[in-house]
Amino acid sequence: MKYALVTGATSGIGIAISRVLARKGYGIVMVSSSLKHLEEAKKSMDKRFPKVKVYIIEEDLGIKDSALRLYNKIKKLGITVDILVNNAGFGLAGPSEKIDVKNDEKLLYLNMTAPTILCKLFLRDMYKRRKGSILNVASTAAFQPGPYNATYFASKSYIYSYSRAIRYEAKRYGVSVCTLCPGTTRTKFFVKEGIKTPMWAMPAGKVAEYAIDGLEKDKAVIIPGNMNKIFKIIPSGVKLAAVAVMKNKVLR
Ligand SMILES: NC(=O)c1ccc[n+]([C@@H]2O[C@H](COP(=O)([O-])OP(=O)(O)OC[C@H]3O[C@@H](n4cnc5c(N)ncnc54)[C@H](OP(=O)(O)O)[C@@H]3O)[C@@H](O)[C@H]2O)c1
Repeated sequence: MKYALVTGATSGIGIAISRVLARKGYGIVMVSSSLKHLEEAKKSMDKRFPKVKVYIIEEDLGIKDSALRLYNKIKKLGITVDILVNNAGFGLAGPSEKIDVKNDEKLLYLNMTAPTILCKLFLRDMYKRRKGSILNVASTAAFQPGPYNATYFASKSYIYSYSRAIRYEAKRYGVSVCTLCPGTTRTKFFVKEGIKTPMWAMPAGKVAEYAIDGLEKDKAVIIPGNMNKIFKIIPSGVKLAAVAVMKNKVLR
């Protein structure tokens, strides 16, 4: 059986991607920071896909050394990861000086450092096999700065840039690296930020379909939906001001 490792697989885009891949016959290794969430997610996966092997691994990827620990746990399981999906992430909304330093540190580790280390470790194995693919989840936030959401937007610019760079390097080993840039998606993301989910949010299942279709077609950058593609070409200064007004309004 081929396996996909999905971080942040217990809700939103992560569980939706896990479902699409399971439907295609991949065994799934679901990773999150909560054993309770993982057990619930595995139960629902086992019910939907009784023939698919599902492993769960509890790992808080927002703390130092977690990515290496996760890699070692996969080695212990003795499975080969054919697809790595770096999806786990969260945002912090508010004026930068008011956001707790510890929370920002965690965001930066989860959204940037952990996926970078996982890419490095799994790329080495994939290069040896001359096979494999990586899907890094960035965001349309990658294309502009985001006042009152500053570290989140910056972290997505980082993963977008890093992911596109390693795609270039990986090509000659027959390994594919794709970057997913969803726009506003209906998940727990905004609730966790303390913001109401915008009405126009795309269902996570639809984002996941775009994501796996793009991965299969080996697209460098996958932007789900035409509106998000149009959004990309608006000058970043205009979008920056719009985000500042929007976030400031909802946070007040
Ligand atoms: N929603 C949007 O509008 C949107 C748009 C563009 C990009 N994205 C990106 O999509 C990705 C998934 O977000 P989502 O919208 O699906 O949000 P979500 O529903 O909140 O899902 C986040 C996932 O990440 C996991 N997670 C959170 N902290 C973790 C940690 N420290 N260690 C390991 N796993 C952790 C959560 O699991 P546990 O709580 O069980 O740990 C959960 O499975 C993120 O990278 C986000 O930036 C979202």
